[in-house]
Amino acid sequence: MSSSLIAGIEEFAMKPFFRFSLFFLILCCVSFSGCRKTAEKAPPKTGSFILGFSQIGSESAWRKRNTRSIQEAAAETGTQLLFFNAEQKQENQIKAIRSFIAYQVDVIAFVPIISTGWRHVLEEARDAGIPVLICDREIDIRDENLYAGYIGNNSVQQGRNAAEFLIKKFTPEDTDEPSKETKSPSPHPVRIVELSGTTGSSVAIKRAQGFRDVLAEHKLETTFPQFEIIYSESGDFLKSKGYELMSRILDTFDNINVIYSHNDSMTLGAIDALKERGIQPGADIVIVTIDAEQAAIDALKRGEVNCVIECNPMLGREIMKFAGSLARGEAIPRILFMSEKVFSEFDDLSKIQPRGY
Ligand code: AHR
Repeated sequence: MSSSLIAGIEEFAMKPFFRFSLFFLILCCVSFSGCRKTAEKAPPKTGSFILGFSQIGSESAWRKRNTRSIQEAAAETGTQLLFFNAEQKQENQIKAIRSFIAYQVDVIAFVPIISTGWRHVLEEARDAGIPVLICDREIDIRDENLYAGYIGNNSVQQGRNAAEFLIKKFTPEDTDEPSKETKSPSPHPVRIVELSGTTGSSVAIKRAQGFRDVLAEHKLETTFPQFEIIYSESGDFLKSKGYELMSRILDTFDNINVIYSHNDSMTLGAIDALKERGIQPGADIVIVTIDAEQAAIDALKRGEVNCVIECNPMLGREIMKFAGSLARGEAIPRILFMSEKVFSEFDDLSKIQPRGY
């Protein structure tokens, strides 16, 4: 399949109106090219394989950067990329994976929007002899042999980092040393509102889990400061929902000390809701957010956010590397967590490089 045809397919895939045409086109390609993959097919050389990739959508600046990283890395390595945007629907992802199987791509990679419901389609990929790489979000599946490996973020660790920042923030400094300035007294308990990501996604589940684990461990060790999650609801990783959700929460609760938000888009929406009511983000309410988009780093520098936990979107090169190995029949590591940083008000913020998303 020529790269211009692939490029054409990608362009069609971005337009919902043409989605039907895309499936039809793929079916035609399959029937014209006959059974391309055979048991004795020679393994492709580096960069000469076809990768079917199902992305979940374009819900955030983070996600757009993630998509760009994959497309750039495919172009750099000469990988033929068949790219689908599922527009936040698992059923679209399943259809896309089925079309990759029908086309007999060399490798399938996808970002699972939620963690469950993948068994049947993964069994179909296995039966067709096509290796599958899971990217960014994890899946929850009994037979782990149904996929080759995972590349992405460590969501449990991100949640842990968020809680660790809060413990540092609300733990009074050593008052035995009179020369040391003490912070203003901590609220007791510290009341936390959580804006959670897409319900059922591994990132939402694990960011919540890591956060709670550290707070529970802290509770066993010391009685002060104590933390209480007074409310948690999904804002679906969207700025608009972050705004709506926070507006509703502010109508109900008037004594919130912390917002723990699973992504920057929701945080930026929540900040708008706070400002509208004359609440100063970062001062009246402490804000911890995940992703590290430029807009969140700028808010951190302005003092409107207190801690930003990086979620690394630059998965493209690693995906191409692992997919290339799989296409050649080589083994890959089972899990690759990307390196991720924490930026907070305790750091020298002048050193942060432009984020690029
Ligand atoms: O799966 C990663 C998450 O999805 C990012 O934190 C969020 O911004 C994105 O939409």
